[in-house]
Amino acid sequence: MLIETERLILRPFSEDDAEDVLEYLREPAVHCFASMRLDSLDAARNEMKQRRGDELYLAIVLKETGKVIGEIFAHPESNEPEDEIMDTFSPCWMLNLNYSGKGFAFEAARAYFDYLFKEKGARRIYAYTEDYNLPSQRLCERLGMRREGLFMEFVSFINNPDGTPVYENTMQYAILKKEWESHAKQCGQK
Ligand SMILES: CC(C)(COP(=O)(O)OP(=O)(O)OC[C@H]1O[C@@H](n2cnc3c(N)ncnc32)[C@H](O)[C@@H]1OP(=O)(O)O)[C@@H](O)C(=O)NCCC(=O)NCCS
Repeated sequence: MLIETERLILRPFSEDDAEDVLEYLREPAVHCFASMRLDSLDAARNEMKQRRGDELYLAIVLKETGKVIGEIFAHPESNEPEDEIMDTFSPCWMLNLNYSGKGFAFEAARAYFDYLFKEKGARRIYAYTEDYNLPSQRLCERLGMRREGLFMEFVSFINNPDGTPVYENTMQYAILKKEWESHAKQCGQK
């Protein structure tokens, strides 16, 4: 499984990616990825073993240098717990922040959305983002996603020094397959 864009390759992880991944997961940039923190190269190698072979957990690789500069992943979900139809996906995206502000996240996410809608049976893609995470919100909007709601004190990923949870206000964005197709048409894509 490999997705190619103008400047990037998206592909599953391999053990050789451990060093590049450690570079951005030693200190995850946002609270929602706090549990993904890696503290050593060995831990990063183990993590790569877990990810290996997952065709939906993709490394974002710079074509020019072969460096892994981030990741994007999502897994199929049903709309309701009892529902057997798994046509909803909620991607998470993360860049090594040395490579942000260059359009790489958008380039990767656009290709990944296309893959989910065209190859993986996605009907609806939604994303959660903290209310203070403006780069992630701008990315959602650039992708044509609608802001569906703001959930106050929705979730907690870290604790205060006194052990009480820090609650985050979470925005939800989403796009349907039909909206994606019409957005792509408006942007002149195939
Ligand atoms: C969220 C995140 C992936 C967004 O990355 P990003 O680099 O800002 O996003 P994009 O790829 O869309 O880049 C857009 C920026 O690149 C600029 N840019 C520069 N060259 C460009 C090019 N050739 N093409 C497109 N945009 C370009 C754009 O002007 C835009 O700048 P702006 O945001 O100041 O308007 C990144 O901030 C990140 O990894 N954050 C930490 C993890 C995180 O928050 N994940 C989401 C949790 S909810």
